[in-house]
Amino acid sequence: MPKATLKHLAIIMDGNGRWAKARGLNRTKGHEKGIEVIRDVTTYCAKHPTVESVTFYAFSTENWKRPKYEVDFLMRLLDRYLEEELATYHANNVRFQAIGNIDALSPKLQARIRKTEEETRHHTDLTHILALNYGGRAEITMAVNKLIYEGKRELDEADISHALQTPYSDIDLLIRTSGEERVSNFLLWQISYAEFYFSQTYWPDFNRDELDEIITDFEQRTRRFGGLK
Ligand code: IPE
Ligand code: IPE
Ligand code: MG
Repeated sequence: MPKATLKHLAIIMDGNGRWAKARGLNRTKGHEKGIEVIRDVTTYCAKHPTVESVTFYAFSTENWKRPKYEVDFLMRLLDRYLEEELATYHANNVRFQAIGNIDALSPKLQARIRKTEEETRHHTDLTHILALNYGGRAEITMAVNKLIYEGKRELDEADISHALQTPYSDIDLLIRTSGEERVSNFLLWQISYAEFYFSQTYWPDFNRDELDEIITDFEQRTRRFGGLK
């Protein structure tokens, strides 16, 4: 019997650039390969009996510091990914949602995001959330400002939870690939009691067999939430 149940999985997909460099390839090749892994992991999660949501970190508010050609490449890649993914979302009963400051993206990508959200909104096996131009601090700040504009004078935790952009649920398990062990401004509010798993694998080499092992490991963990059991 599993001790812990995985409902909301979050993934910091890291190591695309190092994967490419190790092969003498341009960093962009790592991003291309990484996109295929998102597809595979999403299909896996849609079929998993307990997973309800999976949130992928695709582009952070800090990633604008990268060279323009890499940023432009990533944006085009995401647009193409969403275009191709629509059929897969329908086939697997997956709902798509984006979080982050979407308004700052190109009008073309914004339109693609809104269209994909709209056309998949009735799907129920899995919610697939892409964090795009996302920062945890920005999300919390936005939530607090929203509540101020609504006229709130005093906030409790539930107010903030519900004002966040992320369709609200706490993260059960956060995976980061590539051996880096940091949070990089991802879902700061929602990971307060998440279990962490740091994989040495570069994201383009990650696969469903490793995910299966990680979930089995997670399910054996005792989550105490401050209590004694
Ligand atoms: C993660 O891989 C993808 C994005 C941040 C878009 P990186 O591009 O950060 O790869 P490394 O960390 O340089 O290897
Ligand atoms: C975090 O990866 C952001 C995404 C995966 C989108 P980075 O590679 O940008 O993080 P740092 O800079 O190493 O912390
Ligand atoms: Mg990185």
